[in-house]
Amino acid sequence: MARGAATRDHRAGRGGDSAGYPAGVTEHDQLSRELVATWDAGAATYDRLPRHGIRHDDERRAWRRLVAAILGDPAHAAVPRLRVLDVGTGTGVLALLAAELGHDVTAVDLSPGMLGQARRRALDTGLAVTWLEGDAAAPPVEPDSFDAVVCRHLVWTLADPAGAIAAWRGPLRPGGLIAVIDGWYARQPPPVRWAARAAGRLVKRNGPDGDSHEHPYRPDQLARLPLARQSGTAAIANAMVAAGLTHVRVRPLVEIERIERAHQSFAERLADPWRRYLATGRSPREG
Ligand SMILES: C[S@@+](CC[C@H](N)C(=O)[O-])C[C@H]1O[C@@H](n2cnc3c(N)ncnc32)[C@H](O)[C@@H]1O
Repeated sequence: MARGAATRDHRAGRGGDSAGYPAGVTEHDQLSRELVATWDAGAATYDRLPRHGIRHDDERRAWRRLVAAILGDPAHAAVPRLRVLDVGTGTGVLALLAAELGHDVTAVDLSPGMLGQARRRALDTGLAVTWLEGDAAAPPVEPDSFDAVVCRHLVWTLADPAGAIAAWRGPLRPGGLIAVIDGWYARQPPPVRWAARAAGRLVKRNGPDGDSHEHPYRPDQLARLPLARQSGTAAIANAMVAAGLTHVRVRPLVEIERIERAHQSFAERLADPWRRYLATGRSPREG
C-alpha cells in the first residue's frame, strides 16, 4: 500500500510560491515543517501529557471501545478486518489500538521523533503496523487501497484541513470511511474565563506533568490554522462537506471526556475548556 520512498521532502517540487524558502518548498510546506519540528522536539514526553497520551487503564479501555465502534471489532464473527490508514499518527495511539483489534494498519507522520516512539511502542507490544514518514495531507500510499482513514488530534494543526480531507479520498476505496477525532473550545462567560486562567496558572506552576492546555504554537502560526481555535464543531462539519464527503456526522465523545476528567484535579478541570468530538463521513461511491 505504500507508494515509493516516503521522505520528509516528498512534497518539494510542487512549485514554491514564496521567496526565501528552498527551491520547490511552498509557504504551506514551510509552515508544516515548522509545526512538525515542535512535535519532533517533544516526542519523548508526548505520551505523558494528559489528554494526549493514554495514561490510565480505564482511559485505554474507553479508547479501545471507541476505535472498535468506529472500525468494528474483527474478534466478532462477520466483522471484517479493515485496511486502515492513520494520518498524523504521532506516537501511534490510534494505529496501535486498531492493530490490537486485528485491523491491517498503515500509519503516516512527518516527525521522525514521533514515529520513533510509535515504532518502539509497537515493538514493546508485538503489534504489526506499517510506519511511513510522509505528509498527512498527501499520504505516500497507493490510491484506492484503504477501507478507512482515521486521525486523532491532527486536523487542528493543518493549514488546509478541507484540502487534506479531500486528499484522503484518494487512498480510500469508494464508500470508505473517514473518521476525525479532535476538539473544540467551550465558550465561557467572563467570570469563568478568569477563574479558568487563574486555574491554568496554578496547574502550570504545579509541575511538569500539569497540562496547561496551551497550544505549543506561536500566535502567528495559530492564526494560519483554521481549526485551531474553534468554539464549536460547525467548522469541521463544513470542512468535511467541502471535501466532498457524504453522510457527515459530528458527535461529542462524552464517555472519554467523563473518564479523562475524572483523572483531572479540580483546577485542571476548571482550566480546561477543550471538548472532544468524533466527525465521520464517507467517500462518495462515484467520482
Ligand atoms: C497532536 S499530535 C497527534 C498525534 C496522534 N495522532 C495522537 O492522537 O496522539 C499531531 C501529530 O501530527 C503530526 N503532523 C502534523 N502535521 C503533519 C503533516 N502535515 N503531515 C504528517 N504529520 C503531521 C505531528 O508530527 C504530530 O505527530
